[in-house]
Amino acid sequence: MVSGVVRPPGDKSISHRVLMLAAVARGRSELTGLLTGDDVRSSARVLRQLGADISRIQESGVSVAGSRLRAPSSRLNCGNSGTTARLMCGILAGQRFASTLTGDASLRRRPMRRVTEPLKQMGADIKERGDGLPLTIRGGTLRGLTYTSPVASAQVKSALLFAGLTGQVPVTIREPYRSRDHTERLFAHLGLGIHERDGAIVFEPSHRSNIPAFQLSVPGDPSSAAFLVAAAVLADKGELIIENVGVNPTRTGFVVVLERMGAHVERVNLRDAGGEPVADLVVRPANLRGTEVTAAEIPTLVDEVPILAVLASRAGGTTMFREVGELRVKESNRLELIAANLRAVGVKAEVHGNDLHIEGTETAPRGKVDTAKDHRLAMAFAVLGTVDGAKVTLSERKSVAISYPNFFADLRRMHARRTTHDAR
Ligand code: S3P
Repeated sequence: MVSGVVRPPGDKSISHRVLMLAAVARGRSELTGLLTGDDVRSSARVLRQLGADISRIQESGVSVAGSRLRAPSSRLNCGNSGTTARLMCGILAGQRFASTLTGDASLRRRPMRRVTEPLKQMGADIKERGDGLPLTIRGGTLRGLTYTSPVASAQVKSALLFAGLTGQVPVTIREPYRSRDHTERLFAHLGLGIHERDGAIVFEPSHRSNIPAFQLSVPGDPSSAAFLVAAAVLADKGELIIENVGVNPTRTGFVVVLERMGAHVERVNLRDAGGEPVADLVVRPANLRGTEVTAAEIPTLVDEVPILAVLASRAGGTTMFREVGELRVKESNRLELIAANLRAVGVKAEVHGNDLHIEGTETAPRGKVDTAKDHRLAMAFAVLGTVDGAKVTLSERKSVAISYPNFFADLRRMHARRTTHDAR
């Protein structure tokens, strides 16, 4: 049984972006609703090393005094955060000093050439060993770029837009499928010369070289909300209200697919926050059926594949995820680990090439799960552990602090049966 009202933490993607933009703006920006997770703290730490004055990261408000960035005195450690590493490459490409980016063992394994190649084409001087961190970047005088990205990656797109912004050069980007558009929306919100032309994203620097300081309220993260939605759908009865969730269409593929599988997610109180659509969601339990998730849908739910895979394991029939090879280079090899962990709890799941096949079952999941310290694997399998009769043991739980520090408390609260007193 689920009940009550929960609020997911601030959107991770938007939190990184607003911190970075505020750090290079002129004047004091005020940000509320920021994610307080470890990934956003990594961005704040790196920006402080570059001279930005950022107050303590708390949801109630963060104040950022932007300034001209200056050379750091030590390496910039991006922790576990791919978004910090890749977006900072773009910011640093426009700075006339050298800095070295590094990260934890998982991040050091993740591909960086997808960002460094086009930045080199813009004129950034980047020294790297192989396709990963650490790397040293010396920015400076950049030239404009017209680029067709081989991957639908918002991190690549945003790094190039940030390089255009800090280097004051035009950038035109095409991508195979539209990835999340938070950077474009923020640029538009701040009047920073962005538009769409023939399906391409075009940034043209304005004559005004200063980025204005701003105030912004960050909406709740739909990727974090997805775990709560899934837990409510898998419950036997009840209703859950999830407040203040970003419903940007480049992020809501999870809901589209879930509705195709037979659930209904009601959106109420639709509103706008800093150029982003926001709503409250009402979710009830549902019987699910398998579906096919197409390659074009993947960018709109790329971080939700683990939890969708868990839902697919409880659906009637087979679910196929097409072209999910990118999942191999996330915080872990998510593609192989989703399949292996589902098998470990008694579900038929296989990877064929870049596709993931899952056979739904009604048998209660039982077994041990290796999260590989990947926050989204930990949360997805914790949700699977809430179904009737389940006994799912996670190898660790701490990784949830990356994107959803209060996850286990919220999950417990929504499943806590109301006492007679509460029900009255
Ligand atoms: C993100 C983009 C996605 C996503 C990541 C956050 C962003 O990565 O998986 O969690 O904030 O731009 P890719 O750009 O590698 O697809």
